[in-house]
Amino acid sequence: MSPDAITLLVRNVGELVTCDPARGEAPGVVRGAAVAAAGERIAYAGDESGLRGLAMADGVVEVDAAGMAVVPGFVDCHTHAVWLGDRAEEYARRAAGAGYEEIAAAGGGIAATIAATAPADTATLVAAARPRLARMIAAGTTTVEIKTGYGLALDAELRQLDATAALGDDPSLPATVATYLPLHGVPPGDRRSFLDEVCDVGLRQAGARARFVDAFCEAGAWTVAECERMLTAAASHGLRPKLHADQRSHSGGAMLAARHHAVSADHLEHATDADLQALAAAGTVGVLLPGAALVLGGPPPPGRRLLEAGATVAIATDCNPGTCWSESMPLMVSLAVATSGLTPAQALLAATRGGAAGLALDDRGVLRAGMRCDLALLSTSRWLDIAYHLGGPVVAAVIRGGRMVGPAPVTA
Ligand code: NIG
Ligand code: FE
Repeated sequence: MSPDAITLLVRNVGELVTCDPARGEAPGVVRGAAVAAAGERIAYAGDESGLRGLAMADGVVEVDAAGMAVVPGFVDCHTHAVWLGDRAEEYARRAAGAGYEEIAAAGGGIAATIAATAPADTATLVAAARPRLARMIAAGTTTVEIKTGYGLALDAELRQLDATAALGDDPSLPATVATYLPLHGVPPGDRRSFLDEVCDVGLRQAGARARFVDAFCEAGAWTVAECERMLTAAASHGLRPKLHADQRSHSGGAMLAARHHAVSADHLEHATDADLQALAAAGTVGVLLPGAALVLGGPPPPGRRLLEAGATVAIATDCNPGTCWSESMPLMVSLAVATSGLTPAQALLAATRGGAAGLALDDRGVLRAGMRCDLALLSTSRWLDIAYHLGGPVVAAVIRGGRMVGPAPVTA
């Protein structure tokens, strides 16, 4: 059988949302369309009439989209999805007036999740994260980045990276990208020797398992100087930087990210226009986390200001037990439109192509021949409903790497 033979065919697509700039006005919609895949890759995406002449493989899988819309699988480029325990009590206390920093200073917050997560073996971590990733793919996410940061001790951090790899090997879950986030919670002992160990040992060991490195650059967490030392050391281990920047205060994170040509700078609620211009000039993607901003209160993420500065924008869930327990990219698209000044088309691009840019992946996020065949088949004929129907069940079926993903087990 020819390697170019079509193994999957999605016909009768009412709106094929390509997110391809070559298709004209964003988000690049083709009506009356079809997608054909040969193995993991798209062989054809466009007008249904263009299917004529394609060679079909024996046993080609045919899917009738029944006039519904099809979009690229979402790329969720910022999560902390591997954790144990929960912080529901803390969530309720915050709703009653306690502050995030106040709870953290009293030993709650990130430290509470570290206490629950760090002792677990890899299999336990995988089991805890699996239902979260199942909900993600059911909501249309086909690639998810997962950070460490709830291990603190190096061996526990490495188990989080191993769990992330194991989750991504399961074809019924999203593909995973691992980020080593060693500077997240603050160690109880001497922070200087902790940082020495991260730089001297952690980066080398994590370098074989992770693609990116990240730090929580914030008052009460890690300083610009500490983060800068770690990012500088990370470069020699092939770990490209990402950064939690200017989330709770104007910490200097965005400028640090720009100086290091970070792949992304994330949160940015307190970034100035000069910060955002520096990110744009450095080619650093600005990642909006509108769920976390909403839960924590304070200013919304600067979506429109990032676009005006000329930056590439991504949207992600930040899925974590403290500031945003959500697995839903469609909800984040809605929130980015409602709170961050993006149009629905800009938000959809930020959740697909933008997310791929936020992970330096150039093979997904756009529906075009040669790209990975990662698709979300919607339950509605209008892609606009992704933004319009807040929290609605807009995704009917998902294709990852040219294969239909079976019905995902969904548990609380
Ligand atoms: O992205 N900002 C730091 N880290 C997470 C929150 C982690 C937590 O509270 O457990 C965030 O919001
Ligand atoms: Fe985060």
